[in-house]
Amino acid sequence: MARIKYIAGNWKMNKTTAEAVALAKEIVEKAKGLKCKIAICPVFTVLSEVNKVVRGTNVLLGAQNMSDKESGAFTGEISPDMLKDVGVSVVILGHSERRSYYGETDSFINGKVKLALEKGLDVILCVGETLAEREAGKAESVVTSQVVNGLKDISEGMLSHIVIAYEPVWAIGTGKTATAADADAIHKVIREKLAEIYSADAAEKMIIQYGGSMKPENAAGLLAMPNIDGGLIGGAALKSDSFAAILKCAE
Ligand code: PGA
Repeated sequence: MARIKYIAGNWKMNKTTAEAVALAKEIVEKAKGLKCKIAICPVFTVLSEVNKVVRGTNVLLGAQNMSDKESGAFTGEISPDMLKDVGVSVVILGHSERRSYYGETDSFINGKVKLALEKGLDVILCVGETLAEREAGKAESVVTSQVVNGLKDISEGMLSHIVIAYEPVWAIGTGKTATAADADAIHKVIREKLAEIYSADAAEKMIIQYGGSMKPENAAGLLAMPNIDGGLIGGAALKSDSFAAILKCAE
């Protein structure tokens, strides 16, 4: 079974409303007729306006984070219902920047994954090892434990709403990409772990994106690997030309 390729743009903390709307319009134009699955994930403040641009197109609207709570006295937080209210259908959870700068743990992330699914949002669950962990030979164990703990108590039936993004921390925003073979090896390990905790069928169906300095120059090589089913793109998602060039590689 061929898995569909899925490219998501993680805009991180960039773009004012006018800039975001302009970029979204360019992306919608360039994404017309493409067969791969496409999402853009801008900052919370522009979601509503960007939704007006992408609604009814083949570009999905995503968010970069959400609260682990449904509503109430949680100053500064954004709930899943609020995201849905502005047209969001997918949310990035467990990004390494959330893990390292904001202290998000696997169990906290798992709570958010469960809440997102309960509320009908799809999830991009990010996992990845640091450089120190890789150099200590722990890349596989770190990544598989993030997968297992991030998916704790999630039934096989819900997996069609989840995508895993493997993002080696040392490759994010650094210009250093994992080689296609190195990335594919970790994707394979993730797939084997999914087969162990769920089933061979679930493992076969799971879309596993690569993230970490993916750009037009290296996207084709990465996306040609048997276990790499797409990309979570940071820097190269901030310009429509580079994002569109990556989309072309996923066709
Ligand atoms: P990058 O970011 O493409 O700028 O390395 C990827 C990500 O952090 O999602």
